[in-house]
Amino acid sequence: VLKIGLVGAGGIAYLHLRAFVECGLVEEVRIADPSPEARASAQRQFGIIGAAYPSLEALLEDPDLQVLDLCTPPYLHCRQAVAALQAGKHVIVEKPMAMTVAECDEMLATAQRCGRRLFVALSQRMFPAHVRAKELLQAGALGEPLLGVINIYGDEMEGASALPAWQSDGGQAGGGAIFDAGYHAVYMLQHFFGPAQAVVALAKRLRSELPHEAADTAVAALELPGPALGSIVVTCAATGDRWTENRRLVGTQGSLLIHDDPDYGPPLLLLRREEAVPIPVPQPLQLHSYGVARILEHFVECLVRDQPEQVTAAEARAAVATCQALCESERLGQRVAVVG
Ligand SMILES: NC(=O)c1ccc[n+]([C@@H]2O[C@H](COP(=O)([O-])OP(=O)(O)OC[C@H]3O[C@@H](n4cnc5c(N)ncnc54)[C@H](O)[C@@H]3O)[C@@H](O)[C@H]2O)c1
Repeated sequence: VLKIGLVGAGGIAYLHLRAFVECGLVEEVRIADPSPEARASAQRQFGIIGAAYPSLEALLEDPDLQVLDLCTPPYLHCRQAVAALQAGKHVIVEKPMAMTVAECDEMLATAQRCGRRLFVALSQRMFPAHVRAKELLQAGALGEPLLGVINIYGDEMEGASALPAWQSDGGQAGGGAIFDAGYHAVYMLQHFFGPAQAVVALAKRLRSELPHEAADTAVAALELPGPALGSIVVTCAATGDRWTENRRLVGTQGSLLIHDDPDYGPPLLLLRREEAVPIPVPQPLQLHSYGVARILEHFVECLVRDQPEQVTAAEARAAVATCQALCESERLGQRVAVVG
């Protein structure tokens, strides 16, 4: 069993804490957050928290902790991961891995040099429909893969005033919609089809009422390996909508349709000519929480049993490279090659 230090006790940290309680392989969590309210609130709700500190340093110096789990804003991921690895801790970090490929490389090189493991919580890789879709693609159920389309519609107007400050700061968020929810779409397209070679993107702030300085909406086209193309639409300005994600994977022999929301159809549907065949997969009610719980459970098991991870920091780095190219394309107004 492990003792884990959790850094940043904000929104996503609650799902991490719940996952650590439920997996049964974590004995204690000690947290660090500069906000006294954040510390007190997390401690009230989770008995597994043994101590709380105002800064990361206390966790770095704590010899009882084998792992630090970074649930902080993206602009802190690299420097905190490097400090933790240098202090001899294994590191789990929330998505996006970091803000730039250079930061990812620094994290990977430090992990290698210090002989410690680095995990990135790409939670959607654990969605049951995604796991099954990948198996079907690999088994050739769609023929040759041609096109991947991922659409994410969120409405953050309602809770806009409660949005964390870093999310409304273009620099700290690392590129608005592209790096935030868009990162999930990028690593999933990459998982299904392989890494993007070149990209084109448009991004815009559609709702000035949102506190985002960065774009709340992005539309992206990706050149994927072979003949395949990818398309991503991501917005958090879909007023009146609930959070909705859907994906379509198109091949020469048929398509797969993946829905998160049971109101819009079965989680996984195989379309072939006139046929629409639902593929049975479990559909957890709280799919996003489920994904976060499964990926953390997987990483904890990898550490406890000394096993290799199925979701690697290398793929998280490749997705950062694509997001960086998308931001660059948006800025330049032209097609940009992804520098792996
Ligand atoms: N997997 C998912 O679907 C998902 C969902 C939400 C957020 N996230 C990711 O999780 C990360 C955190 O997002 P969030 O929504 O929880 O943000 P948040 O703002 O709610 O929480 C961040 C916490 O970090 C704390 N913090 C700030 N500076 C710190 C420092 N130097 N040391 C320690 N703590 C510090 C803040 O006080 C805050 O409590 C982001 O990278 C985000 O992209 C992932």
